[in-house]
Amino acid sequence: MAEALEIAPKGASKKERYEMLLPQLKYLVEDEDDLIANCANIMAALKEAFGFFWVGVYFVKAEELVLGPFQGPLACTRIGYGKGVCGLAWKEARVILVPDVDQFPGHIACSSLSKSEIVLPILYKDRVVMILDVDSDQLNDFDEVDAQYLQSLASLMSEIFAKSIPVEKSNL
Ligand code: SME
Repeated sequence: MAEALEIAPKGASKKERYEMLLPQLKYLVEDEDDLIANCANIMAALKEAFGFFWVGVYFVKAEELVLGPFQGPLACTRIGYGKGVCGLAWKEARVILVPDVDQFPGHIACSSLSKSEIVLPILYKDRVVMILDVDSDQLNDFDEVDAQYLQSLASLMSEIFAKSIPVEKSNL
C-alpha cells in the first residue's frame, strides 16, 4: 500500500494526533514484512504527523547501535552500549525522557539544535533489538502522553521486527 496519511487538523491535541496516527501505522505495515521498508515509512509518517525535529531508529548490531531509517538532520551512525541516551535506554531497557539534553550526563549531540528527546527500547523475546529516538528543538517537548503512545508504537515495531525474521531463524 502507498496511500496518503490522514493527519489530525491544526489545533488538534497531541493525544488526538497519536490516536489518529497509530491505527494508520498498523495498516501501513500490515502487508509488508521487510523491516527497513516498514521502519522507513513509520519514521516518515511520524515526521509528517508531528513535524518532529528528528525521529529515527537505531538497530542493535553486536556491541553497538547502528543508525537505521530516520527523518531529520544527519545523525551519528554508531552509538556504543550504555553511551548517550540511546545507549543507556538499550542497556537499561527502559524509556528515557530527557527534558533538557544539556542536563543529561553523556548526552550525544548529533545536532546542536536538539534540546529535548525521548528514547524507547524495542524488545523482541526480552532483548532490546532496536531503539526509537525522537528529538525536539524545543526544551521539555515530550511528556507522559508521548511516552504512552510511543510505547504502543514500540510494541507495533516489535511485531514488525518479529515478522521480518525468517521462520528458520525465529527460534534462535
Ligand atoms: N542524542 C542521542 C543520539 C542520537 S541523536 O539524537 C539522533 C543520544 O544521546 O543517544
